[in-house]
Amino acid sequence: MEAAIAVQRFHYSSPCIDWRNFEGKPRGSLRYYSHRIKENKRLIIADLQPDKRRRDHRQRSVSDKNSSALLETGELLHSPFDEEVVLKRKAEEVKPYINGRSMYLVGMMGSGKTTVGKIMAKALGYTFFDCDTLIEESMNGTSVAEIFEHFGEGVFREKETEALKKLSLMYHQVVVSTGGGAVIRPINWKYMHKGISIWLDVPLEALAQRIAAVGTNSRPLLHDDKSGDPYTVALNRLSTIWEARGEAYANASARVSLENITSKLGYRNVSDLTPIDIAIEAFEQVQSFLNKEDGF
Ligand code: S3P
Repeated sequence: MEAAIAVQRFHYSSPCIDWRNFEGKPRGSLRYYSHRIKENKRLIIADLQPDKRRRDHRQRSVSDKNSSALLETGELLHSPFDEEVVLKRKAEEVKPYINGRSMYLVGMMGSGKTTVGKIMAKALGYTFFDCDTLIEESMNGTSVAEIFEHFGEGVFREKETEALKKLSLMYHQVVVSTGGGAVIRPINWKYMHKGISIWLDVPLEALAQRIAAVGTNSRPLLHDDKSGDPYTVALNRLSTIWEARGEAYANASARVSLENITSKLGYRNVSDLTPIDIAIEAFEQVQSFLNKEDGF
């Protein structure tokens, strides 16, 4: 019996909800990578200690006036359910001020836009769209990698702009995950600024780890260089891409820094964050953007 309780607590209090939770796009981004299994085991053992990290998380949530009822839930409820409740309340709190505007998630390849976007859409009761998927559909199911290969990046970028234009003109109440390069064309910002844009700012090292783990098949811009180990190759490519477009991400209405959330929640590493942690922070940053917009 005690063992069963211990196992259950293990399950609920583990801090290791990691990139596994980032299911990514159907075409295979953000899949789980095996070396984290070993790390997870280590962290789960360490987590036999009282679960400070989850308490920190709840601390943040209870500091929020509207989530104060969670304080009443006591020490034992350290379950992912807590996070979902906080997320839902945060979404409900922000929703009236968003006023039906759409949300555009921007960020480098592998930053979790699709996973976080789906969570945000669900919490708001909005519809989710993945821009790359729309482009693939508009080309009769041709994959992004094939579009790059057979038609070139220019055609892909045209299709990307068309998709953003359509989304911004025809839809409200949608959450859109954009491709990492959507930020480089000023015209795309014209469309995205019809809604609220949110930049998922993830350290390049974390992106490189994730990309090295899932491979670069679906990401043609990372294909070129095959020399060296996958992590170093990915980091080098990402650094070059970042130099060219880092500044463009800063056009977004709100910035969600994974490093900031990590230190705010007292976590060890950005890869310890759950997608829900990130979605909650995204709503908080949207809220502060809207406050500023309203001149508060
Ligand atoms: C790209 C990112 C990809 C995809 C295409 C180009 C980029 O999307 O749009 O391969 O230029 O950074 P993700 O950011 O979803 O991987």
